[in-house]
Amino acid sequence: MMDKTLKTLIGSEDLTKEIKNLADRINAYYAEKYSLNEELTIVCVLKGAVMFFTELSKHLKMPLRMEFVSLSSYGAGEKSSGKVSALSLSLPPLENKNVLVVEDIMDTGLTLKFLLDFIKTKCKANDVKLAVMCDKKCARKYDISPDFYAIDVDDKFIVGFGLDYNELYRNLPYIGYFE
Ligand code: IMP
Ligand code: MG
Repeated sequence: MMDKTLKTLIGSEDLTKEIKNLADRINAYYAEKYSLNEELTIVCVLKGAVMFFTELSKHLKMPLRMEFVSLSSYGAGEKSSGKVSALSLSLPPLENKNVLVVEDIMDTGLTLKFLLDFIKTKCKANDVKLAVMCDKKCARKYDISPDFYAIDVDDKFIVGFGLDYNELYRNLPYIGYFE
């Protein structure tokens, strides 16, 4: 991986513009269905979602509660391990709350299927929605899709803006890939 060149897939300005557009769509959904005065709990899936979560939440207009869970499904490298490890899954009572789960990327769908099932069954939340920065539709293996997403990606392994390769490159302000 290190002997390949890092190319830009989406530059920093375009990416933040797409995240702002996504926030507008999310605001519109909650404004229409509820009210922008009604609180929303947003759940950040660490570590990958951290940059997307902060960028997105700057543009959300409702009063937000911020919660963090830590999950890991990828093993080392570019292949999914096929198992989800819950490193930290403690959430406050979410009964009757509106919840927006925020994740970096949906790949096979395993991680988010696990988390959404958990939140829906254990927490008895009212409305659980899912926002991801990148939707890698071609890799989907589970019957799940995001309610909101910012960008479509094809079958490339991408890094940056929270996404890692062996824990590195999360800090890039853009999304890149190795060629
Ligand atoms: P899933 O459970 O297969 O949908 O995988 C989701 C997790 O795998 C994400 O939360 C990411 O951490 C990681 N992942 C999937 N695709 C990529 C990628 O292209 N680059 C970096 N991480 C990825
Ligand atoms: Mg990862």
